[in-house]
Amino acid sequence: MKVRITEVGLRDGLQNEKLVLPTEVRLDLARRLAQAGVRRLELGAFVSPKWVPQMAGSAELLKAAVGAPEFRDVQLSALVPNDRGLDEAMQTRVPRIAIFASATESFSLKNINCSVEESFARYDDVVKRAKKQKLSVRGYLSMCFGCAFEGEVKESVVVKLAARLVEMGCDEVSIGDTIGVADPKQVRRLGAKLLRELGPRRTTMHFHDTRGTALANILASLDLGITSFDSSIAGLGGCPYAPSATGNVATEDVVYMLERMGVKTDLHMGRLIETNRWLQSKMNRELPSKVGRAGLPQRLGIVRAPN
Ligand code: HMG
Ligand code: MG
Repeated sequence: MKVRITEVGLRDGLQNEKLVLPTEVRLDLARRLAQAGVRRLELGAFVSPKWVPQMAGSAELLKAAVGAPEFRDVQLSALVPNDRGLDEAMQTRVPRIAIFASATESFSLKNINCSVEESFARYDDVVKRAKKQKLSVRGYLSMCFGCAFEGEVKESVVVKLAARLVEMGCDEVSIGDTIGVADPKQVRRLGAKLLRELGPRRTTMHFHDTRGTALANILASLDLGITSFDSSIAGLGGCPYAPSATGNVATEDVVYMLERMGVKTDLHMGRLIETNRWLQSKMNRELPSKVGRAGLPQRLGIVRAPN
């Protein structure tokens, strides 16, 4: 079995860090991730710098990365909230964009200042234009397992909105546990419904590890046949408009667990740990990844020896 990992640390991670990294350091991080085998990399966001100042400079970053030899085998992407964001993304020639909607009204209003229906109407135009330019499109859906403002979220609403994102033209839907509340039983239930509606190729899980359940949720997804996950190097991250949302599950932790289980990711564990150490020195704080802190186990390989 093989798992597809989309590295979102440069966007979802850095957007919620107090320290704003200069563009050249972000580019250096992207290069290190590419060298560690990352093949799907979300580099930045074309959102308002008044709303998310950490993502300013995304155009510069993408222009430097798109077409550069070190990213030849990497599918680069950027977050886009509206037509203006798409215009700016297209100027960088990035081949893939990501739109982001919410399963709840309150988060939609807080995050992008419009209702769910208004956002779908807006994204419909954005996706049509993107497809005309032969861009591929990911659709994020937030607050799928519970909302910071509205509490429980109906599974039927999540499935319906995810299906609408596909109808709109998204080739993949990333199902967000934005505030890290999901549990494996819930993931099994909702994941099975999503798989039936979207199929495995279009289903990606996006777990934040706020309450320590992200790896268990990945395992529950994997048991269902979901093989595409988002993660952030070192567990950077959160969402500036979701109170108490902390980092995405750490890439190193996901890769360690999967590779030990014999599930291939094609990511290089040693290089991920080196990147983690380098990044800690740039962020001036200890980052949450457990494998990053502990390192690889002495006398044990990353791949478990057969019994
Ligand atoms: P608005 O205020 O409703 O829009 O913001 P507006 O059209 O009235 O524009 C207001 C100002 O923003 C204007 O500038 C526009 O020019 C400017 P001013 O006249 O005040 O100087 N503007 C822009 N600037 C740069 N790029 C643009 C752009 N559009 C307008 N594309 C808007 C609407 C969507 C722009 C705003 O709400 C916004 O930027 N929100 C960003 C939200 C965000 O980035 N959230 C984090 C990402 S989502 C997430 O993390 C969840 C996810 O990880 C999945 C999960 O975990 O669940 C994806
Ligand atoms: Mg997120």
